[in-house]
Amino acid sequence: VRRVDLVLTGLGNVGRAFVKLAWEKRGLCRDRYGIDLRLKAALNSKGGFLASRASDAAGLADLPAAVPAPTQHSAWHPGLRLGEALGEGEPGVLVECTPTDIRTGEPGRAFMTEALGKGWHVAAASKGALVLDFPALSALAISNGVRLKYSGATAAALPTLDVGEVSLAAASVSRIEGILTGVTNHILSRMEGGIPFAAALKEAQDIGIAEPDPSLDIDGWDTACKILLISNAVAGTGFRLADVRREGIRNVTPGDLKQARAEGKAVKLLGRFIQEGGERQIEVAVSSVDRSHPLYGISGTNKAITYFTDTMGTITVAGGKSDPRGTAAALLKDIVNIFRGV
Ligand SMILES: NC(=O)c1ccc[n+]([C@@H]2O[C@H](COP(=O)([O-])OP(=O)(O)OC[C@H]3O[C@@H](n4cnc5c(N)ncnc54)[C@H](OP(=O)(O)O)[C@@H]3O)[C@@H](O)[C@H]2O)c1
Repeated sequence: VRRVDLVLTGLGNVGRAFVKLAWEKRGLCRDRYGIDLRLKAALNSKGGFLASRASDAAGLADLPAAVPAPTQHSAWHPGLRLGEALGEGEPGVLVECTPTDIRTGEPGRAFMTEALGKGWHVAAASKGALVLDFPALSALAISNGVRLKYSGATAAALPTLDVGEVSLAAASVSRIEGILTGVTNHILSRMEGGIPFAAALKEAQDIGIAEPDPSLDIDGWDTACKILLISNAVAGTGFRLADVRREGIRNVTPGDLKQARAEGKAVKLLGRFIQEGGERQIEVAVSSVDRSHPLYGISGTNKAITYFTDTMGTITVAGGKSDPRGTAAALLKDIVNIFRGV
């Protein structure tokens, strides 16, 4: 059994769900994959927990409960820096769960750069640094002989990259279409019932699936980030965020949805990569799809992705939890797969 040290940046919804899940699945990972996950440190913006050798297991187990009052915990170090958390021992995996900032990429960019440079693998849920600086981060990973995985940033529990990069190996992908943001799909589904946009958004906020500042989702940025990362990884494109033609769902009305229904269609916010001849385009667009389209029936908070290939036909994957636990599960999957060489 191989010991794998984990250092977590970000102790919010996803970070905490990850701590809990890694503890729950520790025995399974040891028995099935021969890896013994050990949470070495976990940081937020004020400091971090640093497990001492003697209290490793206990530290991992009681961290979720300790987070609300970290200063009461014996392993809490105010102002702990990532460099101290990574330490000098055998490198493991940085689990990056800080907020997504698509203007600066920080703090994830600095954390991933430091960890990769010190020979740590990275599993990321945050998108900012990946969207802004993937080529540099990827080159750093390669030059240090480590992996940079980001399922958590590309629709979380829905296996988008795994299918595209592993299952479609050697196929040419000419088109990718995805419903990649559960919140916007949920709002559109509710609006089909006649509820106006503002009320459907408020309802989504009230039940905790939309952020208090929902603009990343409803203005299409979240979908833009995901289709960009997926297209660049699977179709070998080199798009940047500025290349994405983007619209959100603010201007969609219940009348638009009703009319589409009358025509036998459904309105979806799609992230799309299209290759036609030598032209390659990437966009986020409010689109009417008819019954024959693989994404027609994907409603509520569900997500899905369709790959159009030359040799394998059209392949759709649908479902997958979108909540913090589903995202934590995607991070854990990436960690396990790093050590399985997948
Ligand atoms: N929520 C989901 O279901 C979901 C799904 C897929 C992907 N994601 C991505 O996962 C990431 C985390 O989401 P979340 O919902 O867990 O966010 P969150 O609840 O806002 O948590 C963010 C965490 O990052 C910490 N943080 C902020 N700045 C930091 C810094 N400079 N150094 C160290 N820690 C810092 C925060 O600490 P403080 O509390 O001290 O500020 C907090 O613990 C985001 O990038 C998001 O886009 C989330």
